[in-house]
Amino acid sequence: MGRANKVVLAYSGGVDTSVCIPYLKEEWGIKEVITLAADLGQGEELGPIQQKALDSGAVESLVIDGVETFVRDYAFPAIQANALYENRYPLSTALARPLIAKMLVEAAEKYGADAVAHGCTGKGNDQVRFDVGIMALNPTLKVLAPAREWGMSREETIAYGERFGIPSPVKKSSPYSIDRNLLGRSIEAGPLEDPMTEPLEEVFDLTKAIADTPDEPDYVEIGFEKGIPVSLDGNAFGPVELITQLNARVGGQGIGRIDMIENRVVGIKSREIYEAPALLVLIQAHRDLESMTLTADVSRYKRGIEETYANLVYEGMWYSPLKTALDAFVQTTQERVNGTVRVKLFKGSAQIVGRRSETSIYSPDLATYTADDQFDHKAAEGFIYVVGMPTRVWAEKTR
Ligand code: ARG
Repeated sequence: MGRANKVVLAYSGGVDTSVCIPYLKEEWGIKEVITLAADLGQGEELGPIQQKALDSGAVESLVIDGVETFVRDYAFPAIQANALYENRYPLSTALARPLIAKMLVEAAEKYGADAVAHGCTGKGNDQVRFDVGIMALNPTLKVLAPAREWGMSREETIAYGERFGIPSPVKKSSPYSIDRNLLGRSIEAGPLEDPMTEPLEEVFDLTKAIADTPDEPDYVEIGFEKGIPVSLDGNAFGPVELITQLNARVGGQGIGRIDMIENRVVGIKSREIYEAPALLVLIQAHRDLESMTLTADVSRYKRGIEETYANLVYEGMWYSPLKTALDAFVQTTQERVNGTVRVKLFKGSAQIVGRRSETSIYSPDLATYTADDQFDHKAAEGFIYVVGMPTRVWAEKTR
């Protein structure tokens, strides 16, 4: 008896996930392996990958286009929550995992599989996101992670694959581990493991080096409705087109790189390089629009929610009850986050230089220093008398 009968395997086309196919069959006695490759805008032809899975022994090779869902249902809520892990990482890789988990579960249910599988090792965050996501969506499914158990080195993995007709990588494989989707790229390992080593220009793909950026700034006006980006420079765009265009414009000005040491779920610190041009600017612009449309107390309270939200997404808790509850809070706050934010993109930095909103609660009549001032200055005196009372009493008793 094998560990399961029929398995749906998350498939990327790389050596590791390809080797998972014969490994699951030969070592773990799985009868049928169905692979699932998700198109999340990684900019890669999935046709050859589909064939490669069949050549490696899959009975069925699924390719599913999820890019629109990815942006609409995963990235946009994260923008509404201004989600930045450890104040910096906009979760571009992390957001893809719960969607892939959902696709795996749906395929398993459709094809009558009793398990799903992925190629993650035991050191990263993605294994947590897949495992927890899958158990949240269908706790009856088994989750298999062969690469977490097989203990093969890179060379041994390649050699194992060759026994089953899986070609070893043609070009000398890159020293980096790279994850990519429409939202951005995550790059780690190789020379980057030395935290003092500056990343070589070769690791970047979505962002230009400052030296290669134009000498004129690019101004972009981003329109939001209920906290969701809907237009650029007054032209309405669907989610995928909006991110694609904004990535090009922001990245073209050398904006969107992050170099950080982050705390992984499993307790390890890791040095990661990110490129997420559009996502970073969208969060920056969205946060600015909130400052014009939310009351001070909601804004302040939401900041705590945002941090918890980012932690939950990072830790694989996308489908958890707390995350659902926080979503409800965030959605309520977004009702009036409508308007346009003007962003100046220039030489590696994005600056908000203007904003306007029909639902603004910024009041020029109250803010102005001119004769139009509507604020009752005398009212300030009584207010200060009351708010200052505890401090004044304390001072009188202790001097
Ligand atoms: N550290 C990032 C995260 O946990 C990215 C993980 C994948 N990175 C990679 N270079 N393969 O979301």
